[in-house]
Amino acid sequence: MGVRSLTTSLLLAGATLSHLVAAQTIVVEDTVLAANETTVAPAAEPVDVPETEIPLSEAEVVQLTDSVIANLTEFQLSSVELFDFAPADENATNFEKRFFGQPKCKTFPGDFLWPSKLVWKVFDLLTGGALIETVPIGAVCFKTSGVYNAAKCQTLLDNWGNHEVHTNDPTSVMTVLYQGETCKPQTGAADPSARCTLGSFPSYSVEVRNVAQIQLAINFARNANIRLVVHNTGHDFLGKSTGAGSLSIWTHKLKSIQYLKSVRTKSYSGPAMKLGAGVQVHELYEEADRRGVTALGGECDSVGVSGGYLAGGGHGPLSSKYGMAADHVLSIDVVLPNGRFVTADENQNTDLFWALRGGGGATFGVVTSMTVKVFPKMKFAGAKWEVVTPAYGLSEDTFFKVMFAYWRRFPEYAAKNTYGYSTVFPIGPQQYLWAMQPWLVPDMTLVQFKAMIAPLLAEWQALGFNIQPTYFEYDNFYATWRDTFPHSNVTMEGLRTGSRLFPASNWENNATLNGLMEAMKTSVQMGSALIQYNMKGTQQAGTPASAVNTHWRTANWFAIMGAGWTPGNQSDFDVVNRRITNDWMERLKQWGPGGYGNEGDVMESNFGEAFFGSNYKRLLQIKRSVDPNDVFWAPTAVGSDRWKVEGSSWLPIQTGRLCRV
Ligand SMILES: Cc1cc2nc3c(=O)[nH]c(=O)nc-3n(C[C@H](O)[C@H](O)[C@H](O)COP(=O)(O)OP(=O)(O)OC[C@H]3O[C@@H](n4cnc5c(N)ncnc54)[C@H](O)[C@@H]3O)c2cc1C
Ligand SMILES: *[C@@H]1O[C@H](CO)[C@@H](O)[C@H](O)[C@H]1NC(C)=O
Ligand SMILES: *[C@@H]1O[C@H](CO)[C@@H](O)[C@H](O)[C@H]1NC(C)=O
Ligand SMILES: *[C@@H]1O[C@H](CO)[C@@H](O)[C@H](O)[C@H]1NC(C)=O
Ligand SMILES: *[C@@H]1O[C@H](CO)[C@@H](O)[C@H](O)[C@H]1NC(C)=O
Ligand SMILES: *[C@@H]1O[C@H](CO)[C@@H](O)[C@H](O)[C@H]1NC(C)=O
Ligand SMILES: *[C@@H]1O[C@H](CO)[C@@H](O)[C@H](O)[C@H]1NC(C)=O
Repeated sequence: MGVRSLTTSLLLAGATLSHLVAAQTIVVEDTVLAANETTVAPAAEPVDVPETEIPLSEAEVVQLTDSVIANLTEFQLSSVELFDFAPADENATNFEKRFFGQPKCKTFPGDFLWPSKLVWKVFDLLTGGALIETVPIGAVCFKTSGVYNAAKCQTLLDNWGNHEVHTNDPTSVMTVLYQGETCKPQTGAADPSARCTLGSFPSYSVEVRNVAQIQLAINFARNANIRLVVHNTGHDFLGKSTGAGSLSIWTHKLKSIQYLKSVRTKSYSGPAMKLGAGVQVHELYEEADRRGVTALGGECDSVGVSGGYLAGGGHGPLSSKYGMAADHVLSIDVVLPNGRFVTADENQNTDLFWALRGGGGATFGVVTSMTVKVFPKMKFAGAKWEVVTPAYGLSEDTFFKVMFAYWRRFPEYAAKNTYGYSTVFPIGPQQYLWAMQPWLVPDMTLVQFKAMIAPLLAEWQALGFNIQPTYFEYDNFYATWRDTFPHSNVTMEGLRTGSRLFPASNWENNATLNGLMEAMKTSVQMGSALIQYNMKGTQQAGTPASAVNTHWRTANWFAIMGAGWTPGNQSDFDVVNRRITNDWMERLKQWGPGGYGNEGDVMESNFGEAFFGSNYKRLLQIKRSVDPNDVFWAPTAVGSDRWKVEGSSWLPIQTGRLCRV
């Protein structure tokens, strides 16, 4: 780090260059030059790496190194401090010194210290032209936006529910609530005078294709005190992959999948796959199928596997059999808050290796890849059904008796490696739609499956409920998933959810179990949707310890609950949202103190304990040591409670400035 403070550097850049912005110039060795591809070369070099068991991907070989930085100093940039690594002894004291005191907030667009257009231009050139100035996905529908395009707008409206439309956009998020809903295409299409504003969308994104670009982005955000966002698919339900006035690192294009026939680590020897940070669930499943193996992922095809999914723990159809997906990660490559690229595994950076598996995304760095175990091909059997209660002649009372008979058996089914995924939606007064989406068991034949559920069906029959399930049996995972899982559209708006994990201890005595079931019944009767999973997340013997929420380890029932509101009715919005947090989540906490952070309530009180369990204390220590100055921040992430987004009231809408509390 040079002798000048960063503030000085930014001020000088601003002052010296303000009158030169139009000409897009930089000062190099006291000579004024145009800032273009010839004068500013991308700051990266291909590094030689020793042959290791797990090779670096093509994207990971291209790195920002000290020699690249030295070169920039010598030949090119006078304000290289903006892109340099953090000092080795980085801590709160020396960070504050560089800013002449602790900055209360992250620097926001319009602030005196916000980088000038020219600095952004230089940053763009250093990344090899990877910088994207944000144009919200919906802008094409706004006559006032400057990019209005009727045909593109119509295509967007026609495909709004399609995941790909959003995952292929650098900044689109699927839960628009936290974005501020400032540029919805529907609004633009309906009102020619409506304006599209950024809301919580970042100011800029870097479309990363190599490690050097990630390093430059982290260094720049840290050195210029800019809010940093990590954005992969935009699936996050809590507003964690968006943020106003930020620089966003868009990892979607890191698509490499390397199949490794045999990997040996301290605790494992066998086949594995190294997954780039942008790999999505369906891509993983397709490749695993092609290789004749089974991989662990979630149910939704477009979620990012080594992005938010594994970072948060990752549950899926094989959780009861193998435990959480994060338990089976062998190695992680990651760029840290100080800009350095490291590998974390059972032998090196072991604290990080522990924390990155379950400790949540956007907290300890930007993961560039994770190497995961893959398992043998296996058979699956199961069933699906859809019950509309009035069509089955089920009174509300009988419906809940049916449900209680099912819930009572959850420990038994989980012990047999069940994945029972179903949804219950209120469809009218005392009427429900219950869809089994499916219920399946790995390594089980259909004959065994039918024998397993026969007592339940008999009990239902005695209650007058005669269900004819659609049964299935497959000899591999991919076909099971492709044929029996819903491949639904994204629900973008007007809905918020929270979740609870109910431990096995609830089933140990009837009074407790009945209390839980009655509380759930009341919440559903009050209008809560219920997305429920009968499964367990026990850690398998021989897997290394991880930061997976300890509440997963004892659970037999994972329940996501939530509700929608009438668009435009503010009082309905308030009533419904407070009911989710203050009534349903609170009511059920007594039986399930934990929730799943990846599918949790952003207003969860005491989120540290709920989303991370007894791992929280150690996670917080690691966070403070790896990221002492909170370069990384996201709502409900480890250590996030010392910051707050300004201007939002009860719910943390991400449209304001990020400041220390
Ligand atoms: C329809 C749907 C179905 C789902 N089904 C399941 C399921 O079956 N099982 C399950 O466990 N979860 C499921 N989830 C939840 C899912 O795991 C989380 O939403 C997850 O965080 C998504 O990760 P992403 O990278 O795709 O999304 P993003 O929104 O892009 O990112 C999510 C979070 O991870 C961070 N992040 C992303 N990439 C990186 C990276 N490379 N380095 C560091 N931080 C990063 C982001 O900053 C953000 O905080 C589902 C979600 C949806 C919307
Ligand atoms: C970039 O700027 C240099 C120095 O001002 C100039 O000589 C060169 O022609 C420019 N190159 C491009 C591609 O514009
Ligand atoms: C340093 O700069 C020189 C001249 O531009 C270039 O040839 C060399 O590859 C650079 N080295 C690194 C490590 O970037
Ligand atoms: C930070 O590091 C410096 C040495 O570089 C040391 O003097 C100072 O006490 C440290 N501050 C904290 C808060 O650890
Ligand atoms: C998904 O969205 C598309 C386009 O937005 C629509 O045509 C289709 O009917 C939707 N499918 C489901 C299952 O809702
Ligand atoms: C719990 O309730 C079930 C169903 O009502 C009953 O069969 C069982 O005997 C009860 N168990 C105990 C320990 O009371
Ligand atoms: C708005 O919502 C509130 C609370 O749910 C409700 O009482 C009221 O009738 C609604 N108003 C309109 C105009 O629908």
